[in-house]
Amino acid sequence: MFAVKSYFVTGTDTGVGKTAITAALAASLRKRGIDVGVMKPIASGTPNKTGFKSSDAVLLHEAAKVNDTEDMINPVFLPVPTSPYDATKILNLEIDMKTISERFQHLLKAHQMLLVEGIGGVMTPIARNFFVADMIKAMGLETIIVTRSTLGTLNHTMMTFRMCKEYGIAVKGMIINYFDEKGGLAEKNAPSTLYEITGLPILGIIPFVKDYQKLDTLTSIVEKSIDLNLFISERS
Ligand SMILES: Nc1ncnc2c1ncn2[C@@H]1O[C@H](COP(=O)(O)OP(=O)(O)O)[C@@H](O)[C@H]1O
Ligand SMILES: [Mg+2]
Repeated sequence: MFAVKSYFVTGTDTGVGKTAITAALAASLRKRGIDVGVMKPIASGTPNKTGFKSSDAVLLHEAAKVNDTEDMINPVFLPVPTSPYDATKILNLEIDMKTISERFQHLLKAHQMLLVEGIGGVMTPIARNFFVADMIKAMGLETIIVTRSTLGTLNHTMMTFRMCKEYGIAVKGMIINYFDEKGGLAEKNAPSTLYEITGLPILGIIPFVKDYQKLDTLTSIVEKSIDLNLFISERS
């Protein structure tokens, strides 16, 4: 029997690879026999014409091979490409955090382990005075920070790390994405400097995959780059 925990996957920005890495992690853990559930509580953007409206939820659902419905995996979809708070202003609605919490609790009980993908970064507003960090705190999950390795990442990662500290959010570690071995000095130094100044464990360094299109490609790279045992421990 395995002992596993659930995690909230956040990032230093939008587009850092939260979905790609959460999906690849879910697929890898599923291959190891873990019943991993996935959730994208709030998504925004142009809806897909068929299937789940959120492309992130589609990928997560496909990766985890779960039977959960769209309502469970992605309770809130905002059909405008903005932050959740801006979307509520444009669409004149309020995000129903109670429903999100109920669906989250349901998925948490239904699976051995749950991976929840955030939206944007920790200070992305959901309401005027309610941020992604507040949602993480309410869920009581440990978080994983996905970050880039290119110039600017020290600033973004430090800000994310400091906000987690201020909110009292436990951070399991960082996953450094888009690492280019042939990159410049900033890129070469990023992993060691990020570790030095945050003290956060580096859970994995994922290379930039030139022709990355399919989930299988990133899954096999994630399996090579992240020690899955960091997420699984044998129950004695
Ligand atoms: N390591 C990588 N190499 C190449 N492309 C990647 C990598 N990680 C993510 N991507 C691509 O970058 C884009 C943004 O990633 P995504 O996971 O959607 O970010 P986020 O969820 O943080 O917004 C996607 O098109 C994704 O396929
Ligand atoms: Mg995403």
